Amino acid sequence: MRRPHRNPFAAAFVALLLTLGALGSGSVSARAGTTVWGADYFPNVTLVNQDGQSVRFFDDLIKGKVVAVNFMFTHCKDVCPLETARMREVQEILGDRVGKDIFFLSISIDPERDSPAVLKAYAKRYQTGPGWMFLTGNVNDITLLRHKLGLLSAGSDPSNLKGHSMSLIIGNQSTGQWMKRSPYENAHVLATQMGSWLSNWQQPSKAGLDYASAPKVRNLGRGEDLFRTRCGACHTVGEEGEAARVKQAIAPDLADVTRRREPVWLARWLTEPDKMLAERDPQALALQARYTNLVMPNLSLNTEEASALMSFLEEEGQRLDQQKGKVAAVTMAPCH
Ligand code: HEC
Repeated sequence: MRRPHRNPFAAAFVALLLTLGALGSGSVSARAGTTVWGADYFPNVTLVNQDGQSVRFFDDLIKGKVVAVNFMFTHCKDVCPLETARMREVQEILGDRVGKDIFFLSISIDPERDSPAVLKAYAKRYQTGPGWMFLTGNVNDITLLRHKLGLLSAGSDPSNLKGHSMSLIIGNQSTGQWMKRSPYENAHVLATQMGSWLSNWQQPSKAGLDYASAPKVRNLGRGEDLFRTRCGACHTVGEEGEAARVKQAIAPDLADVTRRREPVWLARWLTEPDKMLAERDPQALALQARYTNLVMPNLSLNTEEASALMSFLEEEGQRLDQQKGKVAAVTMAPCH
């Protein structure tokens, strides 16, 4: 294939474009020289973090750093809670590198309501650690950042909170590598991408951050796949240990939930927890009060997905029982 810059016509055309670009904005070097998005690409707008400190987006937050950036709002009841929980899992895997060479930035797209104090309370609810800033600011500045990071397409309404992009941007400003990632992604994979692939080789990556340490890949059933992508950031199913304890403070363990709850109640809870809370369903309210008022999000599951999840939880529960040496009630029933 012919390389375009070897072609004299193409080269002349590029030169013409650059001249036109320079006439338009006054900056040739941004287009001609650097390939890395730098200060001439990212707006250096001032934002305010959850502690009320003013910080500049480029100079203070991303310059020379590996970052994960997402846009969220604290009143969001669908995917943002899952995204925050997923980022918290990634933070846990990366350990104390977060705050040293890797930083998390969650920027509110509802800055009027999300004051620093509201953001601080939100961060506390999710038990986020140091190195993760929650930011608010001027709505126009934030809209500009969303455009620049490719998370708001031209023509879409920035004030439409419901339709906002749930993607996460991870990148290394000094090398200019930026990637869009889904909050449904496995936390170990995200941690590997941030901690190894993008990493700025200043610090050796911690043991256990490669694919070998990610959970073994095997064929997942529909329910298990849904659980891992949609639920596992907040819920455990019988796991123990430190990471599990942190999750269990956020949301209930689901090991025996299919036995604790009526199937009809459970199926409805999985598809419309927000409606049940709005209708003041007593069991839903009791749960909500117990889990520090962090609400289970409505993840727009359909009934078929809910039943796949319920079968998975049922099977996991039985598997755990067997593991513990107990024989599940079902298998104890006499067969004559
Ligand atoms: C952002 C965190 C989060 C995500 C993601 C999430 N949940 Fe929840 N879930 C909660 C919280 C918190 C509660 C406790 C009730 C409340 O406060 O709303 C809960 C409660 C539940 C309960 C009731 C447990 C009981 O003891 O009766 C079930 C069942 C449940 N979730 C299943 C799921 C499933 C299945 C998924 C994935 C499709 C999921 N959750 C995704 C946070 C989450």
